[in-house]
Amino acid sequence: ENGKGESQTVQASMVKRLCKARTILTVNGQFPGPTLEARDGDTLVIKVINRALYNVTLHWHGIRQMGTQWADGPEYITQCPIQPGSAYTYRYTIQNQEGTLWWHAHSRWIRATVYGALILYPKLGVPYPFPKPNKEFPIVLGEWWDGDILAIMRQALFTGNAPNVSDAYTINGQPGDLYRCSSLDTAKFYVDLGDRVLLRVINAALNQQLLFAVANHMLTVVGADSAYHKPFATSFIMVGPGQTTDVLLTANQLPGRYYMAAQAYATAQGAPFDNTTATAILEYSSVPCGAKKGSILQPILPQLPAYNDSATVFAFTSQFRSLSSSNNKVPTIVDENLFFIVGLGLVNCAPSPTCQGPNGTRFAASMNNVSFVLPSRAILQAYYQNIPGVYTTDFPPVPPMQFNYTGNVPRALWQPTFGTKVYKLKFRSAVQIVLQDTAIFTTEDHPVHLHGYQFFIVGQGFGNFNPSTDPANFNLIDPPERNTIDVPVGGWAAIRFVADNPGVWLMHCHIDTHLTWGFAMCFLVENGPGFLQSVGAPPLDLPPC
Ligand code: C2O
Repeated sequence: ENGKGESQTVQASMVKRLCKARTILTVNGQFPGPTLEARDGDTLVIKVINRALYNVTLHWHGIRQMGTQWADGPEYITQCPIQPGSAYTYRYTIQNQEGTLWWHAHSRWIRATVYGALILYPKLGVPYPFPKPNKEFPIVLGEWWDGDILAIMRQALFTGNAPNVSDAYTINGQPGDLYRCSSLDTAKFYVDLGDRVLLRVINAALNQQLLFAVANHMLTVVGADSAYHKPFATSFIMVGPGQTTDVLLTANQLPGRYYMAAQAYATAQGAPFDNTTATAILEYSSVPCGAKKGSILQPILPQLPAYNDSATVFAFTSQFRSLSSSNNKVPTIVDENLFFIVGLGLVNCAPSPTCQGPNGTRFAASMNNVSFVLPSRAILQAYYQNIPGVYTTDFPPVPPMQFNYTGNVPRALWQPTFGTKVYKLKFRSAVQIVLQDTAIFTTEDHPVHLHGYQFFIVGQGFGNFNPSTDPANFNLIDPPERNTIDVPVGGWAAIRFVADNPGVWLMHCHIDTHLTWGFAMCFLVENGPGFLQSVGAPPLDLPPC
């Protein structure tokens, strides 16, 4: 099992969805891409060959990459992209991580079709900390566009307006029965009466939080991202882009067909509410073969909360608790107390050639009023080789001004600066970050992902974070551990971690529209003069800039 080698070829392939054939980027011709499976302790060696016409990189979302910083993958952060006709081999070891992660392209919006599951099993002979399932299925949720995804991205960037919303949500690449020309290919999952099934639900959608449920079946949450959680029962889950949630389901209903459904929660800014639903089918093997649609076996749809029911979703996310409270790693004393206001806003048009956003403006997104600009060389490389002019180290630890963040914010208060700013963290310092959503343009749910770390979510709430009262309610006993936090709509979340992983680590909103508009920053975790010892020399095949 040690030293698993795989090769992944990024290539253009023809697929048919929503009645139309279209050429998309795939990995090895598969959409979604291949599921990678490994055990804790395995070393993965993945040669990525670029046979597409575009630059690309792959990212292993949630893998900590301790000591393998050059394998993280975000373009212009830890590496320059793999150019057409070239290859790069990602090499990394799974170190004390189990659960469901995923991999995806980390180059412009190419991840719209270039993604797949990454499943981390316990070491051989180590059981799951929950009743053993007799079946497991990755359930990868996504979005499908009829148009060319890079053209849609460029159009949004060029005009400064919001991009087109997707034409379908998908489950394992398929829109399902409720969309045109789709029902023959609806994803099906076969179970026997009495089965205990582990569903590894991944939200690979580019821009959309999704609600997910299975008709007539309760779900028991047992894990999220790559951490186990105390089990709790729920009728639905909400998964933000980038997040994963593991649930157990018992096939204890009348043998038949049941819809699994995924639909929008907290719809992306600028987009009208979209009430389309992706479906897949959970089918009991004891259903008589001849049973047809329209018969009693026609599946029914599950009940899901409304797209704007943030109270119900908050009640769901509040139930997550780490499984292990005994071996508690939550920092109780904080060395770095950071406060980041995050969100969207409208700027006057200078940085954009045209200005088709609301009222002759363009959209921008920022963290502490800095809208991130992707450099043209990789930041990690610039650090390692001491190349000046690629980034600056003045990312502000607190907002430049205070105001009622979630109230009625006058636009004059907010004109972001543009820059490639990183924030330096001392190696092994205990860090707290409060992420505060803002109402500068509109409040929204933001799935904020930190590369290179798993963090503890010690608190969250609606409205403005109150530094004198909220910390008293922080959970320092069994807070959930994740790599992506869905900051509540018009609210805040507080996370903690120990900066024990030297390197350059991107933190960003996992809604790609927001990322492209500048909702990102980087941490530079340096081990003083020892930094160069903890970041080894780059692999010889690291793509040139
Ligand atoms: Cu899943 Cu920076 O990404």
